[in-house]
Amino acid sequence: MKVFICGGAGYIGSHLVHELSTLSQYEIIIIDNLSKGHVESIPAGITFENADICDKGALERVFTKHKPEAVMHFCASIAVGESVTDPLGYYENNVVGTIYLLQAMKKHNVKYFIFSSTAAIFGNPEETPIPDDSPTKPINPYGDTKLTVEKILAWTEDAHGIKYVCLRYFNACGAHESGKIGEDHDPETHLIPVILQVALGKREKIKIYGDKYDTKDGTCVRDYVHVTDLATAHIKALEYLVRENKSNKFNLGSGEGYTVKEVIEASRKITGHPIPEIIEEPRAGDPAILIAGSERAEKILGWKRKYNTIEDIVKTAWKYHQSHPNGYNNK
Ligand SMILES: NC(=O)c1ccc[n+]([C@@H]2O[C@H](COP(=O)([O-])OP(=O)(O)OC[C@H]3O[C@@H](n4cnc5c(N)ncnc54)[C@H](O)[C@@H]3O)[C@@H](O)[C@H]2O)c1
Repeated sequence: MKVFICGGAGYIGSHLVHELSTLSQYEIIIIDNLSKGHVESIPAGITFENADICDKGALERVFTKHKPEAVMHFCASIAVGESVTDPLGYYENNVVGTIYLLQAMKKHNVKYFIFSSTAAIFGNPEETPIPDDSPTKPINPYGDTKLTVEKILAWTEDAHGIKYVCLRYFNACGAHESGKIGEDHDPETHLIPVILQVALGKREKIKIYGDKYDTKDGTCVRDYVHVTDLATAHIKALEYLVRENKSNKFNLGSGEGYTVKEVIEASRKITGHPIPEIIEEPRAGDPAILIAGSERAEKILGWKRKYNTIEDIVKTAWKYHQSHPNGYNNK
């Protein structure tokens, strides 16, 4: 089966590419404009097309050339704060880009679509762990772009028969066991790589935003899922689409969470660095606890996480960051 991995040079997409490339039944074509991705993450022998999903002509060219049978869609602008200051840019890349991709799929009769959705569609959830069917109320443009795509997908299925799976990730983290690929965002806003930058001497202290939340140590609780476990979920979602020919939406969380202080403590243990911390004012719109239940993914997709503790996750991230202290560019 020929599969387009759009955004396959990015953090999560590159881990999916590595997992999928171990399975002989799939032929992978990466589509990425390298706005945030890294060509260094692409394994030898994998086809790569430098194309922008907001460019209809480029999409027409790659669909005509490769004739994919499924599309996995990781491309997006992903920084919540930036989405507040540049909502139009976010709707353009995340919504308009996806519409162009779906139009190309419709024209070229591609039937299966897997979408990188997010916990941000739930906003400040009423219930925790967040059930798969929790009400969706995003509180920032980023989350709303993802929810908008989920709605577009439902109507597109009705009209054109494109079957889709939406995977709502919580905090993606960790790196490939080999240490060869990992997380390299610019700017980096995710907790674990930022903590590890302190251990690498690239930052002085880790900032903790608020320590008076109603949690066991006063810091926010988040759900951390290893990026290789997310990759496995995508493969299971593709198998599901082909087997069942049915659309669905799944939360991908761990059902449990760690406080910011617990993640820092685990990182101290793994790196042997004291990782000094400083308490800052809480950030607006940061809920105390964000944890997901993944019952539906476990039951229907047969998804099972391999990385169950924060120590296991940080260990893999540390291996990547130690060998790439400045990311892929390593300058
Ligand atoms: N990282 C997380 O914790 C997390 C959590 C929930 C959801 N997600 C979603 O998962 C997906 C992947 O996230 P990531 O952390 O790997 O991000 P990333 O920035 O590392 O990867 C995105 C990739 O898409 C490419 N891209 C962006 N716009 C493009 C365009 N117009 N045309 C072609 N390529 C384009 C970038 O160059 C990059 O390689 C995103 O859709 C994100 O919203 C991520």
